[in-house]
Order: sequence, then structure tokens, then C-alpha cells
Amino acid sequence: MKIGHKGFLAILLTSMATFTWLIYYSITGDNLQPIPPEAERGKIVFQRKACIECHTLFGNGGYSGGDLTKTYENLGTEALKSYLIYPPVISGSMNKKHIQLTEEEADNILAYFNFINSMEILDWPPRPIFESKVPSLSKNR
Ligand code: HEC
Repeated sequence: MKIGHKGFLAILLTSMATFTWLIYYSITGDNLQPIPPEAERGKIVFQRKACIECHTLFGNGGYSGGDLTKTYENLGTEALKSYLIYPPVISGSMNKKHIQLTEEEADNILAYFNFINSMEILDWPPRPIFESKVPSLSKNR
């Protein structure tokens, strides 16, 4: 089928218009979640104290501590707060304690983790597929 110059131009303009609209929608659409002020302060604490050197959020960061994306849900407010204010000795070390925060810093971090926890992350992190999908491998484990 021949579409000619005019047809080509029409298709080009339509797709450019659609694309512009999609970009506009992705920036201004209702999929944006406002960050509460306390959570924002927590994010600043997280950056100042360089938690990311040892921990990951959404899989990004250092690997010596665990991933903190779902920590708020997993530990709960009480345990999380006391962990940060009265840090225990890190397991596997002789006497090195975890970094200590003030109560205010811990409250801000809690608000930040609560915010992170509320994000739609579609069942992230992915779980290993070995057991369910590759039976020959799981036999040898
Ligand atoms: C020098 C590395 C390091 C830094 C920096 C660090 N952590 Fe950790 N964190 C660890 C390690 C290692 C563990 C695991 C401790 C253990 O297993 O005993 C841990 C554990 C935790 C836990 C408990 C997790 C759980 O699921 O039990 C929380 C919460 C946590 N860290 C938050 C933070 C926050 C918030 C910061 C920044 C203020 C931070 N960490 C900075 C190394 C670090």
C-alpha cells in the first residue's frame, strides 16, 4: 500500500503528538506521589549518614547491610526505632555497633521508610526461580 508524502506526514505528526502527550502525562499525571515533609527530612538524614554505603533501597546501594525497602513493614515502628536509637553490636563483628541516630533523626527515617514502603513496587525484589521453574537444578541443591 502506498501512503504518499501527505500520509507519511500525517502519521509522523500524529505519532509525535501522541508521544508529546504521553510524556506530558507521565510527568504531570496522577501517578506522582507527594513526599511528606517529615519523610523528606528522613531522606536527608539517610543521605547525610550515608546509609546507602551499606544498605540498598530498591536494589541500589551497598551490600554489607540488608535491603531497607520493606524494613518499615518487616520490623514495625517500635523495633525499627529502637534499633536506630539503641543500636546493637553488628552480628559477626567483635564489638562494632551499628550507626546510632538521635530520636528526631530516627523519627524522620521512620517517616521516610514508611513513605518508601507505601510505594507500588510490583512484588519487588524478584525471588529466585530455581525451585519452581528449573527442577533439574533444584535437585542438586
Ligand atoms: C557501615 C555500614 C552501615 C551503615 C553506614 C548503616 N548500616 Fe544499617 N546495618 C548494617 C549492617 C551490617 C546491618 C546488619 C546488622 C546485623 O546483622 O547484625 C544493618 C542493619 C540495619 C537495620 C536492621 C535491618 C533488619 O532488617 O534487621 C536497619 C533498620 C538499618 N541497618 C538502618 C540503617 C540506617 C537508617 C542507616 C543510616 C542512618 C544505616 N543503617 C547505616 C550496616 C550499616
